[in-house]
Amino acid sequence: MNVSDIKKEFPIFSNKVQNNDLVYLDSANSSQKPLVVVDRIYDFYTKEFSNVGRSVHYLAVAATNLYENTRSSVQRYINAKEKEEIVFTKGATEAINLVASSFGHKYLKEGDEVLITELEHHSNYVPWHYLRKSKGIKIEFAEINQDGEVTIDEIKKKITPKTKIIALTHLSNVTGAVLPIKEITQLAHSKDIPILVDGCQSAPHMKLDMQDLDCDFYAISCHKMYGPTGLGILYAKKKWLEDLPPYQGGGGMIGWVKKDDIGYGDLPNKYEAGTMATAQVIAFDESIKFIKKIGIDNIAKHEEELIQYGEEILKKNNSVKLIGNPKKRGAVLSFTIDGVHPHDVATILDEDGVAIRAGHHCCQVLHDKLDLTASARASVGVYNTKEDFDKLNLSINKCKKIFNLK
Ligand code: ALA
Repeated sequence: MNVSDIKKEFPIFSNKVQNNDLVYLDSANSSQKPLVVVDRIYDFYTKEFSNVGRSVHYLAVAATNLYENTRSSVQRYINAKEKEEIVFTKGATEAINLVASSFGHKYLKEGDEVLITELEHHSNYVPWHYLRKSKGIKIEFAEINQDGEVTIDEIKKKITPKTKIIALTHLSNVTGAVLPIKEITQLAHSKDIPILVDGCQSAPHMKLDMQDLDCDFYAISCHKMYGPTGLGILYAKKKWLEDLPPYQGGGGMIGWVKKDDIGYGDLPNKYEAGTMATAQVIAFDESIKFIKKIGIDNIAKHEEELIQYGEEILKKNNSVKLIGNPKKRGAVLSFTIDGVHPHDVATILDEDGVAIRAGHHCCQVLHDKLDLTASARASVGVYNTKEDFDKLNLSINKCKKIFNLK
């Protein structure tokens, strides 16, 4: 795969940022967008726009077909059994809130336990906290080991007869640990416990196969997959979508409405209330085509090499402390520099056009556990190169000079 050609497909890299070439190392936060995705949004609004699933005029029918076409593309891309198992949401956060709310409403009562991990970002903790407040459920945390991983043995240890659902990340956005989801799912299912996987960080970087993973729910963030913002995907096994109550009420999700009762629509409409992010859904088809054209295995290989390279050079830099040492590290490298606050690191790097994220990365529980208030994080996408890490390292050295570090 030719990264310099791929990079040319992203208009943002042909612009200067504060007079610098952009070194974008913040894809775990949100990826940049290829022109095909931006163009698709423009074309849809300028030539094809209509709401979907309602009117019968030409534009409405055509837009509905395009919208449903993306659903089929997603189904094929993640190898879901049926297209009805793909629900569009406004983000991965909403996908997880949907499950917490609908599953919690029907199946959770006081004293029941939800098992999550210390690696979870807030989107996979806060929705469960609501149930702790409203229903008196308990949230148990599977703990990290010294390498920043959560092992299957730790999950095994934390499952009790009261565990009603396991909700955990596929790839940590801080330590980069990739969790053995297939094995954890087998374990959960052997105890009749459903499993929700937060795929925010994994979906852009690895092959997804719902039949192989066999999880019950999988949440995806489209804006991290070279797609538009305002769009997420909930994959859920059909049996759950049939069984659970809807999450939000409104137009589009009903079957019939009378003064004394209401019937809900067929799947997946039951979970798609109101006017959806139509343009984003339609443009997301281009993101999938973009990824498929390069090949997710090629992307994974390229990013693995990059992260290995980044890890090597940061390890040689004596002031840098890497966070986590997982056996299988995904597309993120978090670090601290003794004596310099991560926000100062990020600000100094930014002067050179090196964009990283600093803060708790929406993982305060994990940072508490690591005894840190914040960390700096470099994360990669398909457009990054080894030179990006060289520039990161040079800027870190500049930062060390400013703070008089050796
Ligand atoms: N957007 C978040 C991140 O940067 C969660 O990892």
